Amino acid sequence: MTTMESLIGLVNRIQRACTVLGDYGSGDNSFSSLWEALPSVAVVGGQSSGKSSVLESIVGRDFLPRGSGIVTRRPLVLQLHKTDEGSQEYAEFLHLPRRKFTDFSVVRREIEEETDRITGKTKQISPIPIHLSIYSPNVVNLTLIDLPGLTKVAVEGQPEGIVQEIETMVRSYVEKPNSIILAISPANQDIATSDAIKLAREVDPTGERTFGVLTKLDLMDKGTNALDVLEGRSYRLQHPWVGIVNRSQADINKNINMIVARQKEREYFATSPDYAHLASKMGSEYLAKLLSKHLESVIRARIPSITSMINKTIDELESEMDHLGRPIAVDAGAQLYTILELCRAFDKIFKEHLDGGRPGGDR
Ligand code: GDP
Ligand code: NA
Ligand code: MG
Repeated sequence: MTTMESLIGLVNRIQRACTVLGDYGSGDNSFSSLWEALPSVAVVGGQSSGKSSVLESIVGRDFLPRGSGIVTRRPLVLQLHKTDEGSQEYAEFLHLPRRKFTDFSVVRREIEEETDRITGKTKQISPIPIHLSIYSPNVVNLTLIDLPGLTKVAVEGQPEGIVQEIETMVRSYVEKPNSIILAISPANQDIATSDAIKLAREVDPTGERTFGVLTKLDLMDKGTNALDVLEGRSYRLQHPWVGIVNRSQADINKNINMIVARQKEREYFATSPDYAHLASKMGSEYLAKLLSKHLESVIRARIPSITSMINKTIDELESEMDHLGRPIAVDAGAQLYTILELCRAFDKIFKEHLDGGRPGGDR
């Protein structure tokens, strides 16, 4: 692994360890401020725009609940950890520690059941996130957050306030300056009406932390294309737009697997008269690499502030451990040690990195 890969991996593990203590989002303490100093990618878009499909393509696995209407009703914090070539792929939930899931259809069922545990079998939403980690040689180190889809009207059985409630929840993630926004819009709707772009424009007017993703290119009317959007003429962002062709509902019903779907997506771009000239910069695999590379550069730029945050956390943790001494719960104590160890490891790798040459010069 390169130094940068191990730093991103460590950032991932620190984020995870912070959340084990249950402190994320619960106000001011060293864990929540450390979490907030670290970047992550929030996926936003209207209902059925293709958010879950894009996430599954990035992971290369089929594991998210799906259906029409509002399926994602709690934030899903998805941490991807790249493991050594040849090692077995597995998933782990924070609320079920030490249980390894190797069957991804069981992961899907657990997300559904865990959603219902908090919201009941209603169509209500809850801001309490579900944390899922996937360990695989086939992923890039990334933290992605799947969020409920933005909507304009409540559906049957939902309280009127839900439209605003969803927007407030999504906004709380994307307004953080360290959040990278993956704004999903479907190509078969006018980009001017995109909920994702509307929100991204409000919280990130310069477009420096927004990645525009255009799904459903295959569903556009014959004789039209999305070049105005993909080439940045319709709505300009600092980062290039990425076009995507996910599995259609028919593909899903036929159980077309993700490997085949990626292959079909590659062929779609390579053979398309409209998009062939952009083929190397389109598709979900390209998007995953683009995001990981961006995350890398964000972490690189923030190394000084992350290290000082980490050193502050180390100091606070050390004095906390002194104070707590024996009576601390075994699990919490172990987690404090874990964070402390990870922070020290980050600091050490970073220092070696500096000693080894110019800062950030590992490629
Ligand atoms: P979400 O509600 O934003 O998470 O959207 P989903 O990922 O669940 O997708 C909603 C529906 O649109 C599903 O039936 C998908 O199969 C379909 N879909 C998503 N992306 C595409 C695409 O690029 N092409 C086609 N043909 N269908 C897509
Ligand atoms: Na949906
Ligand atoms: Mg979804």
